[in-house]
Amino acid sequence: MNKQNILVIGGTGKTGRRVVEQLKKRGIEPRIGSRNASPIFDWGNKDTWVNALNGIEKIYVTYYPDLAIPGAKEAIESLTYLAKELGVKKMVLLSGKGETEAEACENIVINSGMDYNIIRASWFNQNWSESFFLDPIVSGEVVLPMSDVLIPFVDADDIAEVASKVLLEDTYNGEIIELTGPELITFRDVVDIISKVSKRDLNFIEISLEHYIEGMKQMQIPNDLVWLIEYLFSHVLTNPKNQLIVNDIERILGRKAKTFSQYAQETTKTGIWNQVVFQ
Ligand SMILES: NC(=O)c1ccc[n+]([C@@H]2O[C@H](COP(=O)([O-])OP(=O)(O)OC[C@H]3O[C@@H](n4cnc5c(N)ncnc54)[C@H](OP(=O)(O)O)[C@@H]3O)[C@@H](O)[C@H]2O)c1
Repeated sequence: MNKQNILVIGGTGKTGRRVVEQLKKRGIEPRIGSRNASPIFDWGNKDTWVNALNGIEKIYVTYYPDLAIPGAKEAIESLTYLAKELGVKKMVLLSGKGETEAEACENIVINSGMDYNIIRASWFNQNWSESFFLDPIVSGEVVLPMSDVLIPFVDADDIAEVASKVLLEDTYNGEIIELTGPELITFRDVVDIISKVSKRDLNFIEISLEHYIEGMKQMQIPNDLVWLIEYLFSHVLTNPKNQLIVNDIERILGRKAKTFSQYAQETTKTGIWNQVVFQ
């Protein structure tokens, strides 16, 4: 295989795994950055970074769990500095659309002197099948606040196709790319679509953000995750800039972005929403 010395940080995650697949389709075998890869890359242990970055020319960076959390800026700053020192030429950073807190991280990459792209994505479809909203769907009951906020959910397949293209093609260097899906839908719509497409009864219950956060604390979800969810609901979802559709997927890929229904049809076929729940 043609080695292009590309590191995909979070290369087994929602977008990183798909970026790796896209690169492999083009005959490129990227290095994966994760706590389970070899060499190991651990955001929590800087000693692991040099080996992971050694000999690398381009990096796709996903930060875990989110660029908006306290400590992310320092981590991105250290990684960017080290990457430049070790001869990395280009960074493609995955960020959140309308996440003011993440902009400090974006600016570090923008001002690094390396080639770069910032990919600002809206909420992923895959949050309903590979992340925090999967369990409620499997259980048959989705309890959420803000049921009527319009969200342009975007598909991780589309994000990965864009990310791998701009990693490989220098014509996009220096662009901030905004990725949304092709339609604005609410949490209620999402649950309806998944219910219809997967032919499962799903119950949607609206609660206040205050009660939702209280419930998470009672379930002993770690404080930083509770903080993140509260931040995403109270600042990101409600930001009017996030309730707009952008056509960067079409511009860069020359095709339409995936709809939520298409995603639901593909995901139904995997059987992930039909897992048996043991009580
Ligand atoms: N979800 C959304 O709707 C959304 C929307 C916009 C932007 N974003 C952005 O997307 C980014 C996350 O990207 P993603 O969803 O593709 O990734 P993800 O699925 O959240 O991340 C999982 C990946 O991160 C790795 N990982 C976890 N903890 C790690 C650690 N301490 N050190 C090194 N690697 C670690 C995991 O591998 P190991 O477990 O093996 O280490 C795995 O490869 C965040 O920065 C977020 O701001 C998300």
